[in-house]
Amino acid sequence: MKPPARSNSSKKQGRGALCNLPLLLLIGAIQFLVIYSPAIDRYMVMITKGKPGFPSLLMDGRRGFKLVEEEAIPPPRVRCDFADPRSDVCELEGAIRIRGSTSEVFVVSPSSGGGAGADMNMTGLAAGMNATSWTIQPYTRKGEARVMRGITTLTVRVVSPGDAPACTVRHDAPAVVYSNGGYCGNYYHDFNDNIIPLFVTARHLGGEVQLLVAQKQRWWFHKYREIVDGLTNYEAVDLGGDAAGEVRCFRRATLGLRSHKDLSIDPRRAPRNLSMVDFKRFLMWRYALPREHAIRTDELEDAGRAKKPRMLIVTRRSRRRFVNLPEIVALAEEVGFEVTTSDVMSPPVPEKDKQMKPSSDEGHARMADASALVNSFDAMVAVHGSGLTNLVFLPMNAVVVQVVPLGRMEGLAMDEYGVPPRDMNMRYIQYNITAEESTLSEVYPRAHPVLLDPMPIHKQSWSLVKDIYLGQQDVRINVRRFRPVLHKAIRLLR
Ligand SMILES: *[C@@H]1O[C@H](CO)[C@@H](O)[C@H](O)[C@H]1NC(C)=O
Ligand SMILES: *[C@@H]1O[C@H](CO)[C@@H](O)[C@H](O)[C@H]1NC(C)=O
Ligand SMILES: *[C@@H]1O[C@H](CO)[C@@H](O)[C@H](O)[C@H]1NC(C)=O
Ligand SMILES: *[C@@H]1O[C@H](CO)[C@@H](O)[C@H](O)[C@H]1NC(C)=O
Repeated sequence: MKPPARSNSSKKQGRGALCNLPLLLLIGAIQFLVIYSPAIDRYMVMITKGKPGFPSLLMDGRRGFKLVEEEAIPPPRVRCDFADPRSDVCELEGAIRIRGSTSEVFVVSPSSGGGAGADMNMTGLAAGMNATSWTIQPYTRKGEARVMRGITTLTVRVVSPGDAPACTVRHDAPAVVYSNGGYCGNYYHDFNDNIIPLFVTARHLGGEVQLLVAQKQRWWFHKYREIVDGLTNYEAVDLGGDAAGEVRCFRRATLGLRSHKDLSIDPRRAPRNLSMVDFKRFLMWRYALPREHAIRTDELEDAGRAKKPRMLIVTRRSRRRFVNLPEIVALAEEVGFEVTTSDVMSPPVPEKDKQMKPSSDEGHARMADASALVNSFDAMVAVHGSGLTNLVFLPMNAVVVQVVPLGRMEGLAMDEYGVPPRDMNMRYIQYNITAEESTLSEVYPRAHPVLLDPMPIHKQSWSLVKDIYLGQQDVRINVRRFRPVLHKAIRLLR
């Protein structure tokens, strides 16, 4: 940019030049040469050549597109990370071509001598990987063989320009390629495996990103439309649904999503140091949530107002229910909360609507309702399970109380739902129940290993743990033991 003083003076000179007859004649002569002289034409080709992406009509018309395109191919750059325990990710730069119908990604390498890829700047492939062709599964639970077996495998091939399929679609925005399969549909996993990793991988691009989604579920994209539309300005492409001949061309592509920790983000590893607080603000923006901060009870007292902090007790319809819910509600009210019980994801259906079939819009409407409902509370109590995922919609400073059932899952519960609230500037209390508070104590004799020592069951198999401790257990809170927890919760809201 020119400083203002100079642009003023050049403007003046320009106005003067228009009145200069010899100069006008000269401009006319140049225009004649440009239009009629083949020599000038070649000169124009020369100066436009070698500028990747420079749109030159002159060249398109006379030389054919393919040749020009090959001349513009830059040496590719590949940065993979196959060492991360949660997900494999490859960042590709250069001429990247993606054929969805065959799940193939081509990295075009312009090098002639030394074979394709000789001039490539590549890092991060796993030991023993073939640097001209490798596979990657773009899903964030790489350690879990059982679920990874169902995930689309992408094959990356480094090829010479002659072996690369021709582009049918060109995208200016970079691609992010990932799978919508796996645990898709489980509320916790939707956020943990998919939404938060997508936020980490794509948010810094400010919407200028084209999602290419393997195993794309249309209902999923409809349900989480607010979130997806906040991350990309473009309709997500169903990779497997692409026509057989479709080849999408990009200058940059990310294969796989980055995932740092359970239901959270490590800002030190995220682009622009994005954190879970940024994610919470993003959700508040997308769902137009009104409350950024929870109530401050000390301010209420000062103002002499009667308003109480609001507590949501999340109820479950199947296992891990609160058996003595009325007793818990009474305790929370006595301690000073205004209490609501809800299973959040299915708002009460008015009697007259009971016969209506669920519409395709149901998931989407529920997200809007759930986010608004949860945001209106200052504290939330829930038994370990995916309903706790709703904590992402609580205001900042709110208190989360996780009730952990029997079965030696205190550590797991802490990782999944204990760390994330703290990363979102909220407070967290974990309540580990005793054997007496578990309904398993009514099913098994007191000395049974299920009650006394869950570790051997963990060692035997996770599905047994799931079956017994997650699938057969309800919770009867000992209100005498729970009272100090709720007192602490109300203190934390000061
Ligand atoms: C590859 O790229 C990195 C990062 O830009 C650079 O530091 C490195 O020198 C490059 N290596 C080669 C062989 O060009
Ligand atoms: C890598 O794979 C390509 C294609 O399958 C093959 O032609 C090449 O020999 C392989 N290179 C090595 C070092 O294994
Ligand atoms: C992100 O955090 C890391 C580690 O705290 C720091 O070294 C880096 O400078 C930060 N980057 C930005 C862009 O703020
Ligand atoms: C519950 O278990 C977790 C994990 O073992 C532990 O950190 C926490 O202190 C326990 N909570 C209570 C109240 O004992």
